[in-house]
Amino acid sequence: MSVQKLNKIFKLAGITKEYVKPSSIQALKGIDLEVSEGEFVSIIGPSGSGKSTFLHLLGCLDKPSKGEIYIDGIKTSDLGDNELSIIRRDKIGFVFQAFNLAATLNVFQNVELPLLISEVGAGERRERVEILLKHVNLFDKKDHFPSQLSGGEKQRVAIARALANNPPVLLADEPTGNLDSKNSKDIMDLIRGLWLNQGLTVVLITHEPVVAAYGTRMIYLRDGKVEKEVKNKPRTASIDGIKEKKGG
Ligand SMILES: Nc1ncnc2c1ncn2[C@@H]1O[C@H](COP(=O)(O)OP(=O)(O)O)[C@@H](O)[C@H]1O
Ligand SMILES: [Mg+2]
Repeated sequence: MSVQKLNKIFKLAGITKEYVKPSSIQALKGIDLEVSEGEFVSIIGPSGSGKSTFLHLLGCLDKPSKGEIYIDGIKTSDLGDNELSIIRRDKIGFVFQAFNLAATLNVFQNVELPLLISEVGAGERRERVEILLKHVNLFDKKDHFPSQLSGGEKQRVAIARALANNPPVLLADEPTGNLDSKNSKDIMDLIRGLWLNQGLTVVLITHEPVVAAYGTRMIYLRDGKVEKEVKNKPRTASIDGIKEKKGG
């Protein structure tokens, strides 16, 4: 059996991020990290430790003050805004705590939006959206508007939308932060299923240990630095402990 070297989907070297407005703050203070294709990395840390800043940099939503980020071997500092938006479109799916769905579009149209932007033809769009909605078990609610969905359903739409262009990477910023315990578990089981079955690379932020435990690797951020890294046994079964999380 040949030993296969895993591709590095992310490589970060000496990343710092300084915000100057409204006050000068060093949100990230020198991060070196590699993420291999197919990993499920959880980023854990207290509020203000730099987690969202870190994920925004991974997703090319913002640029580091210093250091270099390689995505799939591409040196992102060499890229202009157009090229960065193409990387975002083709390689990265983003899921947020607050779902960020378009209120005036129904479920089908929300998931279709990234495909419209990518100029995918109508027939292929329909086919792709229907497959995605079946994956997240929402096909029967395709005509609902976001206001007519539960929080868990909204997040399932957001996950389907994030995966519309079939990106290799899913980045999630506190995806269960606005959900009760049952919906948190359902969303994490869904993400884990997509990771297992579709070979996604997942980087997920949380401050909840039971959510972080879905990852194969847990990275603890504190005060803009990596405090420690813990390897975790890859799981194929559900984390039942998540049931104990308080609703909210
Ligand atoms: N756009 C921004 N402008 C200025 N300061 C910011 C901005 N985003 C985050 N910060 C600051 O950077 C630090 C890290 O924030 P953040 O990455 O959001 O942390 P976390 O997601 O871990 O709560 C905090 O002190 C926060 O106030
Ligand atoms: Mg945050």
